[in-house]
Amino acid sequence: MNDFVRIVEVGARDGLQNEKTLVPAATKIELIDRLSATGLRSIEATSFVSPKWVPQLADAAEVYIGIAKRPGVRYPVLVPNQQGYERARAVGVDEIAIFSAASEAFNQRNINASIEESLLRFEPVIARAKADGVAVRGYVSTVLGCPYQGDVPVAEVVRVAKALHAMGCYEISLGDTIGVGTPTKAAAMLRAVADEVPMTALAVHFHDTYGQALANILACLEAGVRVVDAAVSGTGGCPYATGASGNVATEDVAYMLQGMGLDTGIDLDALSATGRWLAQLLGRPTGSKFTQARTPAGTDRAR
Ligand code: HMG
Ligand code: MG
Repeated sequence: MNDFVRIVEVGARDGLQNEKTLVPAATKIELIDRLSATGLRSIEATSFVSPKWVPQLADAAEVYIGIAKRPGVRYPVLVPNQQGYERARAVGVDEIAIFSAASEAFNQRNINASIEESLLRFEPVIARAKADGVAVRGYVSTVLGCPYQGDVPVAEVVRVAKALHAMGCYEISLGDTIGVGTPTKAAAMLRAVADEVPMTALAVHFHDTYGQALANILACLEAGVRVVDAAVSGTGGCPYATGASGNVATEDVAYMLQGMGLDTGIDLDALSATGRWLAQLLGRPTGSKFTQARTPAGTDRAR
């Protein structure tokens, strides 16, 4: 079994999109530049959604232009429609992420479209991306539960993931948007999708609302997934998913993987220092247990 796990860092996008106080573009740029120096290979930089819907990320173009792109690191951005694609391309974006959901109710509230409408809306975006040589990642949200409709049938997750893959997404990230999943269900959902989409084209994306994220990730690793989304310092949430809490903290995922002998290429101390810096800026304790367990100098508090 492949022992490299790619972490897709989503802190600068998913982590910040729900922050009530506007974070200056310069801070976002510094965050991404710090993350780029930790060994991460994929850092979701921002989101070219409507600023009316997500005011925090209205500075997407400024942030994308400002970051120091490190060779070997990918900087995907979220794009909800053609308008977002044009804005992203105007600043040279070479990887986008499109997003739909397995729940109708959530999709309506999140992007003002039914699932079918959203897939149709993405068709021309993907066609343009293909023609422009732009890589496309896809998200399926609410894979283990929806804040509005409750249970979400696994068959719907499979259907939407399969559709996004068939449309040309090189990777599909399966999102437990409100963090309600538990390990057995998470692994069963992943296996069901992997019956239709190659496991090598799948990623998992857990929010930690009920404290299940690391357990869910472990179950999914055992089922064969090798790409995991996470947000430094455990920031995050979706403005259109009531009650959703932060993403699983990247530091904690990296620590678990390191302990399992799985390679992430990440310098955990540098990542933890970045998480500590971000938490201080946001004015709250870090959401990473790893960072809480360490002194700022990087030593173990318990010893
Ligand atoms: P709409 O209101 O139906 O769109 O929203 P519209 O086409 O009618 O446009 C309304 C206005 O927005 C217009 O401006 C457009 O120009 C403008 P006006 O004429 O009123 O002045 N507009 C835009 N401006 C800039 N960039 C754009 C853009 N598009 C329209 N791209 C829309 C539809 C999709 C735009 C909206 O619903 C939207 O932006 N939604 C984004 C919501 C969002 O970002 N949610 C969080 C991300 S998903 C997530 O967090 C889950 C994930 O982490 C995985 C998981 O956890 O499950 C990925
Ligand atoms: Mg998310």
